[in-house]
Amino acid sequence: MTLTILPGHSLSGVISLPGDKSLSHRAALFASLAAGRSQIENFLVSGVTTRLLEALTSLGIFWKLDGTTLTVEGRGLGGYSIPFAPINCGNSASTLRFLSGALAASGTPAVLDGSKGLRRRPMDRIIVPLQQMGVNVKGTAGCAPLSMGVSHLPLKGGIINTPVSSAQVKTCLLLAGLSAGEPVTIIEPGFSRDHTERMLAGMGVTINSEKTSANGSAQYQTHLIPPATRYSLKPLTMSLPGDFSSAAFLIVAAVITPGSEITLQNIGLNATRTGLLDVLLSMGASIQIAARPSRNGEPVGDLTIRHCPLKGVDISGEQVVRMIDEFPIFAIAAAFASGTSTVRDASELRLKESDRISGLCAELKAIGVSVDETVDGFSIHGKGAIQGGTVDPHGDHRLAMSLAVAGLASQQPITVLNSEIMQESFPEFTDVITRLGGALEDTPNLEPSHA
Ligand code: S3P
Repeated sequence: MTLTILPGHSLSGVISLPGDKSLSHRAALFASLAAGRSQIENFLVSGVTTRLLEALTSLGIFWKLDGTTLTVEGRGLGGYSIPFAPINCGNSASTLRFLSGALAASGTPAVLDGSKGLRRRPMDRIIVPLQQMGVNVKGTAGCAPLSMGVSHLPLKGGIINTPVSSAQVKTCLLLAGLSAGEPVTIIEPGFSRDHTERMLAGMGVTINSEKTSANGSAQYQTHLIPPATRYSLKPLTMSLPGDFSSAAFLIVAAVITPGSEITLQNIGLNATRTGLLDVLLSMGASIQIAARPSRNGEPVGDLTIRHCPLKGVDISGEQVVRMIDEFPIFAIAAAFASGTSTVRDASELRLKESDRISGLCAELKAIGVSVDETVDGFSIHGKGAIQGGTVDPHGDHRLAMSLAVAGLASQQPITVLNSEIMQESFPEFTDVITRLGGALEDTPNLEPSHA
């Protein structure tokens, strides 16, 4: 599809959003390892979570979706059947990395594969530590497809260092650690999102994190004590908060679009995810936060956002991990700000669904933004306005939605080609923008002529 966003329409209204993607992935997968039936409300039904559910089916797990309520019949650790065919994880690195940890804990052989885009993403970051734990796994030149053979259980535990601050890596290793014969400590250089720790703790696992230091640098250690038996994990009963990363598009949309005021209800506000809020507040954004009761250990709140002018900001260091998925939409806020904004220490962005440094910079230039690309980030010279034009999202859902948001307040419309990629994480994106008052035109992609 091709999506054109027509500027000049303010946003207003009060809405709730679909469930958090990170929590949806974890809840479905962890539920499959629990002893008995889990029920998860406000589950995110989208491209990437559908891949995970299909993978669970191929592992012999029964689940049912009734609207957005997911029921999963858990079979305990080691309860997976051997899949008949390679598991297709599509574009979803979370699916592939989380599943490899769960399969390791179950000792189940399988092949994990995915789209061309997923095959480009680095998997050595899980393969090497999984092998250290005694998992029989090998990749293809450090990438997918991954072949997992039968592993001898229990796995090895002990201290596992990971050079990247990645919750996907940490989650993979913690899941494998559930079947270790001794306690496991994962050490990462920055504190990546901690949803896994909170959810496993709710399922009865002994797990905790601490900040320490080594050679003058901060480190984050997560300690896990493997459960006593394969049936020790309690099933989940939870209602998932709205996805902060989806809310981020609407927050920036309201801030940059003149005349806007919106309220987003029941959004997940886990501090390991909300770096963008702090950054926008420091840029001068008008955002009010009203806390609500937490859900299964996850902080939740309502956000009220009003249009207001922004000023440039610099981002580096630990702040990067706390907003790792929000750089495309941050860049739009920075383009509408006055003054230069600079991002450093963010080379990890090159390894996401697309190279989110070069792809983002190229598309920003296409709509008239002044931007300089660097090895580990970019600088945007904000002028308080964007010209508009046609962009390609490089097969990246977050790039597609960020560029669409820019069109709400640009001087000329913005047209996003191949916009269907938004379905991966936020299928309701265009509906939500329309319900809030935005004006969009969705048309099928023009097919090349074969005459
Ligand atoms: C995720 C972690 C992040 C993020 C991804 C979801 C998760 O990846 O980019 O969208 O649910 O754990 P990394 O942890 O590899 O940075």
